[in-house]
Amino acid sequence: MFILGIESSCDETSASIIQCDNSGLKIVSNIVASQIKIHQPNQGVIPELAAREHVKNILPVLKKAIKSIRLSDIEAIAVTRGPGLFGSLLIGVETAKILAYTLQKPLLAINHLEGHIYANFLDHNQLQFPIICLIVSGGHTQIVLIKKHLHYKILGETLDDAAGEAFDKVGRILGLPYPGGPAIESLVNKTSNVKYNLKIKLPRPMLHSKDYNFSFSGLKTAVLYLVRDLEKKYALKFLRPVIAREFQDAVIEVLVKKTIQASQEYKAKTVCMGGGVSASTKLNQQLREQLKNYPSVTYISPIKSMSTDNAAMIAVAGYFHYLDKRFVDWKEIFADANLSL
Ligand code: KG4
Ligand code: ZN
Repeated sequence: MFILGIESSCDETSASIIQCDNSGLKIVSNIVASQIKIHQPNQGVIPELAAREHVKNILPVLKKAIKSIRLSDIEAIAVTRGPGLFGSLLIGVETAKILAYTLQKPLLAINHLEGHIYANFLDHNQLQFPIICLIVSGGHTQIVLIKKHLHYKILGETLDDAAGEAFDKVGRILGLPYPGGPAIESLVNKTSNVKYNLKIKLPRPMLHSKDYNFSFSGLKTAVLYLVRDLEKKYALKFLRPVIAREFQDAVIEVLVKKTIQASQEYKAKTVCMGGGVSASTKLNQQLREQLKNYPSVTYISPIKSMSTDNAAMIAVAGYFHYLDKRFVDWKEIFADANLSL
């Protein structure tokens, strides 16, 4: 059977068809229209602009996604209901409602964060419960315990900025293009063989707190002050790679330590990640390396193209809603910018 997924929570308009049968889940199409270029001059997403772009993109994206199947072959329609930007969510949700009504197909309302978790289930045979999932996106940083399908317990989350948000803000301070995460990673990789005489140390916020919460706002401010002070002596061009590396290391150290700690306390069989920051090669390497010390835990690394926002992950989560018969009435479902897991 085919499930149509629709995602429009932030600055990516996406539609996907996945095929679900006994042999597993397969992506038939996963079309993503990214608005990065449009938001780059503003160094961040402008909500009004994002909503207008979704309006422009939603139908062409849908058309491409369903190209290889007939509309009548779609068994159910899964859509991101929240959290996200209200104006952006509205476009996806209303489109899905119209399709569900006209095609007379069940509608499945998906939490965007659930989508990030379920991106890992494309390869669902490997995932054993209990699962610890580190969600690290532009808007969220959470450690989630999943003991069975569709049941989530948030063990901890950021008290201020999300990890991705911190990457984006530090990218801006360093004069790098938006989004900051991939820009910082590529700068660090490009300069990995260069030896710098300058030694700096940034804080590892809440590394030793005995909970699963995070705080990245102070780290961003520490970078701001460091740049302000060091710029009196050094050119930003020289400072940039040194600070970028230390910042990336600081964020990763905290994320990895707390995720492993949670996996041990809750006797997880699987550890996985979701969200844009999980595309970080260094974060993956560190988590994989350090989890080797805990052989009872299997680490599932995210498929890179499934880390950032896309509709295939929404369709996969939709499949599990479908199995659980969690259908929603199109007349009663609305976009919810603050929806929690
Ligand atoms: O999940 P996502 O696509 O959108 C939200 O749901 O927020 O995540 C976007 C975030 C951005 O903040 C971006 O800087 C970050 O993911 N990101 C990364 C990397 N690739 C994307 N952060 C660190 N390293 C990366 N390689
Ligand atoms: Zn996301």
